[in-house]
Amino acid sequence: MSTQQPLAVGLVGTGRMGSFHAETLARRLPGVRLAAVADPAPGAAQRLGDRLGCPRATTDVDELINDPQLDAVVIVTPARTHAGLVEAAALAGKAVYCEKPMAVTLAEADRAIEAAGKAGVPLQVGFNRRYDTGFRAAHDKIAAGAIGTPQLLRSLTRDPKLADPARVPPWTIFLETLIHDFDTLRHLNPGAAAVEVFAMADALVRPDFKDRGLLDTAVVTIRFDNGAIATAEASFQAVYGYDVRGEVFGSAGMLTMGDIRRTHLTTYGPDGTSAECVAYDQDLFHDAYVAELADFADSVRTGRPPAVTGEDARAALSIALAAIESITSGGPVRIDRPRHP
Ligand SMILES: NC(=O)c1ccc[n+]([C@@H]2O[C@H](COP(=O)([O-])OP(=O)(O)OC[C@H]3O[C@@H](n4cnc5c(N)ncnc54)[C@H](O)[C@@H]3O)[C@@H](O)[C@H]2O)c1
Repeated sequence: MSTQQPLAVGLVGTGRMGSFHAETLARRLPGVRLAAVADPAPGAAQRLGDRLGCPRATTDVDELINDPQLDAVVIVTPARTHAGLVEAAALAGKAVYCEKPMAVTLAEADRAIEAAGKAGVPLQVGFNRRYDTGFRAAHDKIAAGAIGTPQLLRSLTRDPKLADPARVPPWTIFLETLIHDFDTLRHLNPGAAAVEVFAMADALVRPDFKDRGLLDTAVVTIRFDNGAIATAEASFQAVYGYDVRGEVFGSAGMLTMGDIRRTHLTTYGPDGTSAECVAYDQDLFHDAYVAELADFADSVRTGRPPAVTGEDARAALSIALAAIESITSGGPVRIDRPRHP
């Protein structure tokens, strides 16, 4: 790949998140070209390709992955397809960016990591919170010792609306929602590994779907090997908007991250004060979503390792799987030492 040429990136999966990432690749990143899009749903890739002026759109995902003109592949498909696509893209010699979760089993995660390692291609995973200015600053301060030793951590995700409970696959709250919080807690407790997990969950938003396996509300307690204790919390429906926050309490201070307010505007009127809330993830994390792909492109161009790796994805997944086991067994679950420390 010549460093003079724009990076040619293909994107797989043109749904809600894929459309945002495609637009970033097409319009928001200098030195990057959205060269192809693929989605098996008839017409989906073509519609997005036409809108963004992308030269190639196909329903054939394999064809995109094996296109010799592409330097990198961005995977934004449903969770259960990720690991296989990562493997295929690595085998085709492409740099790979994959949305979270990179895999839904540890065996799959290991295969994906091994495939990228063997092919010698970068593999980055979509833990976008690491690129949010507040969470990033918190990490840097903690790593520099600003709050001493982390003792209590918390991270929460509350989605604004559970639109269609029938379409939520089992365990989504752990594998797709809380996976962000598990990564955040690891990232904000640098160098520590999760060793024990205890989870409670229920269907409080849609109790009528509980017997079909829906869990829409959850709290997970995590013990780390440096002694810190963390909680991760999620709900699929916060009536006031999209709410993501974090807190780290240490021996020498505390840091808090996240703000539900869309802007710094507060309105004062006869009925009191009000502020507009963040409506959804692409609102709150617009810049972080762009920054993670900019960072991916930079790592592909420069050959430096990506900042958020397959091993990070595996470590967060191991917490999610322990939480699921805890729900099933009703007790705490120990996590084995990671194979990829
Ligand atoms: N990082 C974040 O904050 C964030 C936010 C939203 C979604 N996501 C992740 O992005 C991924 C996609 O989510 P979404 O909300 O865009 O879903 P979506 O349902 O809107 O889109 C998924 C797309 O993938 C396509 N698809 C299905 N099977 C495929 C296959 N085998 N190969 C290629 N394409 C296939 C579908 O046709 C659809 O267009 C998920 O993994 C989700 O967890 C991440």
